[in-house]
Amino acid sequence: MCGIVGYIGKQKAAPILLAGLAKLEYRGYDSAGIAIMENGNIEVQKDKGRVSNLCEIKEIENLQGSIGIAHTRWATHGEPSKTNAHPHTDSKEDFAVVHNGIIENYVELRKELEGNDYNFKSETDTEVIPNLIHYFYSKDSKNDELKLVRAVKQATDKLIGSFAIEVLSKENPDIMVVVRKDSPLVIGKGYNENYIASDIPAILSYTKDFYLLENLEFAMLSRDSIRFFDKDLKEFNKKSDTITWNAMAADKNGYEDYMLKEIYEQPTAIRETIGTRVNEGTCKFDELNFTKEYLLGLNQIYIVACGTAMHVGLAVKSTIERLSKIHTEVDIASEFRYRKPLVDEKTLCIFITQSGETADTIAALKLCKEKGAKTLAVTNVIGSSITREADFSIYTHAGPEIAVASTKAYTSQITLLVLLAMYFAQILGTMEKQELENIIKEMLVLPNKLEEVLKISEQIKEIAKQMYKEKDVFYLGRGIDYATAQEASLKVKEISYIHSESYAAGELKHGTIALIEKGINVIGIMTDPNLVKKTVSNIEEIITRGAITTVVINEKIAQMLDTSIFTNVVKVPETEEFLSPIITVVPLQLLAYYISKEKGLDVDKPRNLAKSVTVE
Ligand code: F6R
Repeated sequence: MCGIVGYIGKQKAAPILLAGLAKLEYRGYDSAGIAIMENGNIEVQKDKGRVSNLCEIKEIENLQGSIGIAHTRWATHGEPSKTNAHPHTDSKEDFAVVHNGIIENYVELRKELEGNDYNFKSETDTEVIPNLIHYFYSKDSKNDELKLVRAVKQATDKLIGSFAIEVLSKENPDIMVVVRKDSPLVIGKGYNENYIASDIPAILSYTKDFYLLENLEFAMLSRDSIRFFDKDLKEFNKKSDTITWNAMAADKNGYEDYMLKEIYEQPTAIRETIGTRVNEGTCKFDELNFTKEYLLGLNQIYIVACGTAMHVGLAVKSTIERLSKIHTEVDIASEFRYRKPLVDEKTLCIFITQSGETADTIAALKLCKEKGAKTLAVTNVIGSSITREADFSIYTHAGPEIAVASTKAYTSQITLLVLLAMYFAQILGTMEKQELENIIKEMLVLPNKLEEVLKISEQIKEIAKQMYKEKDVFYLGRGIDYATAQEASLKVKEISYIHSESYAAGELKHGTIALIEKGINVIGIMTDPNLVKKTVSNIEEIITRGAITTVVINEKIAQMLDTSIFTNVVKVPETEEFLSPIITVVPLQLLAYYISKEKGLDVDKPRNLAKSVTVE
């Protein structure tokens, strides 16, 4: 996690770096710091807390330098404190480094360096890096233009773990060196200036031309040049990519919080994700060259992901099975990778990840590749780490998702996977043409239906007012609605800190119903006419025990029930069964949002969390 930014150009670096950090704060927000090359000296300023604290440091205003690096931290080694904040310097203060990732062997390296008269100030793993660079730099008798990049390479050769690093050097005041391994880093190309960041949105307002640094590639930047070197320091030319996201997409754009903006962007995100993938009643995935023979030969599909992305797997598992008739399993990446999964060359492994950077998901993908399976990444970020590992990548087009709690990525991912299930069914001939056309027709009007759902936000605000002081809340559903219950429960937990549980409605009476007492809030999701009677009888059992009930239902279900038994009834438009999780989750995202607002919490940056989990 952690976010890093860098600037080398002709403008004052500090304001650019601080603005970049503010945009990256979702990656970590327990301390922040900046280092500027100032008249041949490296000036470091840092503090505990948010980027706004850093901005208040008076000395930063006086920094005139036009080269600098900056960092916002999510603590792994060492508590959040000013001393542990980045940038870190070597003990002679000749080099400054910011780092995103984890150095697993830092204890041994630190001991070795201490034996060579290097002193340490912080408890971080990072501090070994500037000291190692100093060590190798001072040992190198060759004083050529590549001396710094050589020292950085020798230092990184010693590191076990993951890193994205930016390095400033007092002796080389007009250059900066960067390198990455298993942590993201992009370089933005400007005119007589260059930018560095962990994620594209941080520097999107300055440039649209980016270099996506691969593992163990080094870059040496000056104001008007970027030189690339491979892991053996052989120089090579790299092609830049042009990003089509606009800068507004990475701003709040008038909304109070990114999360609210992203909830409201869902109709557009889904429209964009469908894009041109449907054409005259068929689904197109030209980038996948799957044949009928290959799909028929599959023993199963494995969907592997973390958190909300894993809930997408749960929401589409039965859709894939029912449409394509291929057995489908869903697993949590951090569990999957350690339990010797039954995966072989006849398995198709699908990895869902908004960021494309989640360490456990990437490790699970590597494991499946080793076992000979084909791997398919479903991500929102073009050029992200997972896309460089996977055999195939398909993209949601949700635009940058900044709020820590995922919303538009979730609904876009379900949309893309339902399209994928239909594509499999098309190839295999497991679906009637008419059925396929019906789902596509319904999918195309889905964005309009979502716009309808977003109009009920006032009702949801009122329910949030009733609920925000609660300590516990339960979510229930059956079938596809159970997946929505799980996602809704995670949303309320992570941004409003209310303890919440989700249950398959039929499971309640096997234990959990013992927790139901007078006044407890239970939320039921019911969209399947075949299951509704059963779920209602489960809800009646808890109403009898004094629970306050809120149900999310569609028009058809409303006609089948006496809704007067529920405390709150949230009605959403009816849609195709496979698409219903895309609609039903939206009022529940809003509910979590408004509860968090009622509690006065920071919706976009919930405590202890960060957007990209690049550590295991
Ligand atoms: C919850 C949330 C997380 C992520 C999870 C995986 O709102 O956002 O649970 O879904 O950390 O992240 P990605 O999709 O980037 O792999």
